[in-house]
Amino acid sequence: MKQAVARAAIPHVVEGQVVGVGTGSTANFFIDELASLRQRISGAVASSEATRRRLEAHGIKVLDLNEVSRLPVYVDGADEINRSLQMIKGGGGALTREKIVAAVAEKVVCIADQSKLVAVLGRFPLPVEVIPMALGHVRRELARLGGKPVVRERCITDNGNLIIDLHGIEITDAAALESRINQIVGVVTNGLFARRPADVCLLASASGVQTLLAD
Ligand code: A5P
Repeated sequence: MKQAVARAAIPHVVEGQVVGVGTGSTANFFIDELASLRQRISGAVASSEATRRRLEAHGIKVLDLNEVSRLPVYVDGADEINRSLQMIKGGGGALTREKIVAAVAEKVVCIADQSKLVAVLGRFPLPVEVIPMALGHVRRELARLGGKPVVRERCITDNGNLIIDLHGIEITDAAALESRINQIVGVVTNGLFARRPADVCLLASASGVQTLLAD
């Protein structure tokens, strides 16, 4: 299913332009599919060091985001997605760079299998990237929101920071919670992609790939 949905994203890639590339097992399938198009794009922007390495291993030119004036499309997976195409991301710890690339992209295409589609976000623990010296403070502030913050073990992000996973929080207003958590001093960002949701979700199931647009 991951391969099928990765292949379905290829028509969204704009020839002659730069493509933004996400992180994770589904995004890895997309990178492998993208390899056959490498002569027809001007390069890729990577949302993590792991993605950069995989792109380069395929001979795909990787550009710094600051060198790029236009990014027509960004393709990435999700840990959860709802019918408004708001997502939780960051299970792989790459949420901050993913959010930066998504902010620049004109179109965000989420590639996922059916298991990622949920009615209400929050069953998947919400990742929060934290500056190390603020860990205790952020953990206490997150606990006040009602969930259980758990520091992710043996995890240093590509930006040299830590991740707290916030468990057991029911997310009824994703955009409000995204902003509220980002207001905590010491938080770099959190894994809610609600203020900038996906524009298209390609969702794979055993019967094929369907296209969802925000409701
Ligand atoms: C990486 O930090 C994440 O946001 C991933 O995009 C997300 O966890 C989806 O990964 P999978 O495709 O491996 O499920």
